[in-house]
Amino acid sequence: MELRGQRARAAMTEETLDLEVNYLKCCLEPHDMTVFMPVLRAYARECATIAELGVRKGMSTIALLAGLPAGGKMQSFDQDLCENAEALEAMAEGVGTRWIFQQCDIYDLHPWPLKPDLLFLDFNHTYKGVTTQLVEFGSTARRWIIVHDTVSFPDVRVAIADWLAEAEQRWEIEREYCEGEGLVVLRREHGRDAGKRENPR
Ligand SMILES: C[S@@+](CC[C@H](N)C(=O)[O-])C[C@H]1O[C@@H](n2cnc3c(N)ncnc32)[C@H](O)[C@@H]1O
Repeated sequence: MELRGQRARAAMTEETLDLEVNYLKCCLEPHDMTVFMPVLRAYARECATIAELGVRKGMSTIALLAGLPAGGKMQSFDQDLCENAEALEAMAEGVGTRWIFQQCDIYDLHPWPLKPDLLFLDFNHTYKGVTTQLVEFGSTARRWIIVHDTVSFPDVRVAIADWLAEAEQRWEIEREYCEGEGLVVLRREHGRDAGKRENPR
């Protein structure tokens, strides 16, 4: 009896820490990232390094980790502790990637230390906040910046448009999703080879 119980617990633990299983679960559960899980995963597949600003319980984190190829590294930041941090770390390790979580006020990160292939922004949805993010962190991203909540917070979309209008910005919109809370994918203009995929879903 006891052995059967131990086996069941072991199987459950294994399943819980299986990245693919958790990714699929998160694709089926209704939350504000559900429709974009496959989009985030598709972009992450083409990256070696990712920075994620805004984690909460880690829905976008799972999607990005589910795409990141073995050997890849992702760093995520949030002012609050992520209750799933330990599990996410183990899930990443299980597929040969590294996930590093840092609890901090993102605006305190001076100078911004990373040059990720993909920068995912989902933490402050005010016009001023997004403008600061794009100016301070955006210019360091190598290939893509993905911004969430562009429909549910129209100021986010306006901030992107104004930032793009700045003559020196070398970025353009690769794709815009208007379903759900909205998502915009920006790519570096000189990184056209990165944007051959028409629809990553
Ligand atoms: C919309 S939630 C992120 C959701 C997450 N991407 C997901 O898919 O589940 C926004 C997060 O940003 C964090 N946040 C807001 N302002 C912040 C700041 N200045 N520095 C660090 N984290 C911040 C909040 O604690 C919250 O967890």
